[in-house]
Amino acid sequence: MSLSLLHNANIISTNPNPLRTLRTPSSISQSFASKRLGITHISCEQKQQDSVTTDGTIDRRNVLIGLGGLYGAASSVATGANMASAIPVGPPDLTKCQPATDAETKLHVNCCPPTYASYDIFDFKPPPQNSQLRVRPPAHKYNSEQLAKFKEAVRLMKALPDDDPWSYKNQATIHCTYCNGAFNQAGSNVLLQVHGSWLFLPWHRYYLYFWEKILGKLINDPNFAVPYWNFDNPEAMSMPTMYLDPTSSIYDDLRNHDHYSALLDLNYAYTDKGNPTAEETAKIIEANQSTMHKVFEATTNNPELFMGKPILAGEAVNETSFGSLENLHNTLHMWSGSTVSPYHNMGNFYTAARDTLFFGVHGNVDRLWDYYSRNRDYKVEFNQEDWLQASFVFYDENHKLVKCKVKDCLTPQSLGYTYSVEKQDNARVHRKYLKRRKAEKSKTRSQTLSQVSAFGTKARALDSTIRVLVPRPKVSRTKVDKEDATEIVIIDDIQMEHSKPSRFDVYLAKPIEGLVSSDLGELVGSFVNVAHTHTHTGSGTEAKMVLQLGITSLIDDIEAEHSTKLVVSLVPRLGELTVGGVSIILLATQD
Ligand code: C2O
Repeated sequence: MSLSLLHNANIISTNPNPLRTLRTPSSISQSFASKRLGITHISCEQKQQDSVTTDGTIDRRNVLIGLGGLYGAASSVATGANMASAIPVGPPDLTKCQPATDAETKLHVNCCPPTYASYDIFDFKPPPQNSQLRVRPPAHKYNSEQLAKFKEAVRLMKALPDDDPWSYKNQATIHCTYCNGAFNQAGSNVLLQVHGSWLFLPWHRYYLYFWEKILGKLINDPNFAVPYWNFDNPEAMSMPTMYLDPTSSIYDDLRNHDHYSALLDLNYAYTDKGNPTAEETAKIIEANQSTMHKVFEATTNNPELFMGKPILAGEAVNETSFGSLENLHNTLHMWSGSTVSPYHNMGNFYTAARDTLFFGVHGNVDRLWDYYSRNRDYKVEFNQEDWLQASFVFYDENHKLVKCKVKDCLTPQSLGYTYSVEKQDNARVHRKYLKRRKAEKSKTRSQTLSQVSAFGTKARALDSTIRVLVPRPKVSRTKVDKEDATEIVIIDDIQMEHSKPSRFDVYLAKPIEGLVSSDLGELVGSFVNVAHTHTHTGSGTEAKMVLQLGITSLIDDIEAEHSTKLVVSLVPRLGELTVGGVSIILLATQD
């Protein structure tokens, strides 16, 4: 029986409850068995017919429309273009996979999952909460037994046939599927994109979770835990050596080979500092730690600064922003991948997950989210249902498609794992760094002072450093004021080619009697883009982004709490960029 017959055999003519989604497990495994026998599956485009079944399976289109649960009824009318409504982003209509685009080369690529169109979707059930937690260790402390298991599991995954959803190839392709335009959001013509918004961390948590569970299944070890690259730890600020053995299953040759023995530089933008001296090395490490500190310090009270801005169903990732952790992680992609366009593998989201190192980076990103949550006593980051009910689909370790909601992945523990925590005192290093800077500055007495003006009302090309004086909404803020609202600097209407990497850094300084010194002041944070697809044409059509950076404590650091204006400097590092404006506002503490 062909798979298409198998599917049609389930079609009858009456309409059961449109929210029921389950087919019996036996028919699922039958489908999969058919698949494994090498039967040609139905292509994404062919599955448009209505289908209603006897045994609880139903019209697939209704299933997919109904995926929003309570929101299902509303989403079924969300048919308009670019329609934004108070509906959480849900899984795409899996029957409508389309060619994706490699952003850099502009080539159309097939990132459609092999068999989505022939599977039904089960609700994800988190593991029982009393079970023993799997402990993910840092790569630099992974022991030889763990490493042997990891390599064997990846080897087995790489040996699976291409039509198996567990195959290494298909697992890696998932990243392209959700980043390079293989799907629109259900019921809309807006591309489904899991980067650049509050979906970034939960989606990648699930992605890594299922990858780990599948690897564990392949080696019959349900407690198998993947390693993470502990890149915020000075002892681990280099590519973990376990990924560097060219004969192993976890090696990938499409990387920057110069970085196999280099020190990680979180300020990287495709230019290396050559062979740093011992003193320079110490400064890079210190700067890395200071950067890590700011990712958390400035965002504790406002999760959108850390996680990325909200996005609802029907909204494109446009006018939105990366959170501080996503921006930071983009640098890891840049630093690891090849240095020439199209930056495969790690430096381009189309191919990034082909390199096993990707999952090491994301292990740490996931751990850093957990670190953030812990610092907030696990107070839920966003209470909006639009976030909590947002959902994704993945293949689980039982070869089933499951729909996973954000609300079920808020802690690693809820998914049955935890991290062996390597605590870093980056705050202390940051203070040391400020002290050193202050001492250095007091030595260089003769600073040239000059005038700068306001940003103006027109967008400006960021082809050289832009320095502007920006008024603050409130001066001399008290401790209570600071608890109630975070002061942030906003860079608006950032336009760049999404299909190309780009970066600029933002510095903050205190004006001296309305003038500015040649010193840029202190780094607040950076905007970092990794090549990805933003529109269906993949033509690199420009879209706008926003960068929001918390500066409350940095203002204290530079002793500028009583200044009515601050000097903001935008320093271009990579790519062609335009910015629309710079302002400072108060963002109320989120509760
Ligand atoms: Cu989906 Cu590291 O990116």
